Amino acid sequence: MSFWKRLFTGVETTTDSDSVYDRIVFSTNREIDLYELEELCDAVGWSRRPLRKVKKAIEHSFCVVSMYNQSNDFKHLIGFARATSDHAFNATIWDVVVHPEYQGKGMGKALMEKIIDELRAEDISNITLFADPHVVDFYRRLGFVADPEGIRGMFWYPE
Ligand SMILES: CC(C)(COP(=O)(O)OP(=O)(O)OC[C@H]1O[C@@H](n2cnc3c(N)ncnc32)[C@H](O)[C@@H]1OP(=O)(O)O)[C@@H](O)C(=O)NCCC(=O)NCCS
Repeated sequence: MSFWKRLFTGVETTTDSDSVYDRIVFSTNREIDLYELEELCDAVGWSRRPLRKVKKAIEHSFCVVSMYNQSNDFKHLIGFARATSDHAFNATIWDVVVHPEYQGKGMGKALMEKIIDELRAEDISNITLFADPHVVDFYRRLGFVADPEGIRGMFWYPE
């Protein structure tokens, strides 16, 4: 079993004293420390959003996945994603983020696979998202298709 696979399954923890990783765990609990989430979003340079709105968005999301690096009793938020849904056919994934220190190691892929598993377990078959231009290939690798059959995303913003 590979090093990262062991981390994700929690079968074994690393004993490498230079490593910043201990054990990677996922949670679908909505009781998220909003300040920790804000720190994570700050770390990737996202604009700050009012915490009361972030709290509301999380409360009203269909599914929330947090990814933690857990060491003994301490766990540190290193990844996050959430999805909204009509609870029957469609879901849209939002706010996919992995802390820069943990990027490029398969964490984003594991996070996406986890949220897709959660949605598939609820029999949601149409999963969409809005990709920033620099991450289109990240989502393509996970099986997402841009503009299927020419369908285009359209947006309306207040003037
Ligand atoms: C996008 C993001 C979640 C990817 O997480 P990550 O942990 O670095 O991704 P992974 O290591 O799991 O990468 C999985 C695969 O996608 C590829 N990949 C990762 N980021 C990529 C990118 N920006 N463009 C193209 N491919 C990318 C990896 O090379 C890897 O390929 P492989 O399976 O062939 O080895 C992370 O970079 C991030 O949080 N970015 C800042 C926030 C952001 O832009 N979120 C998306 C908003 S739409």
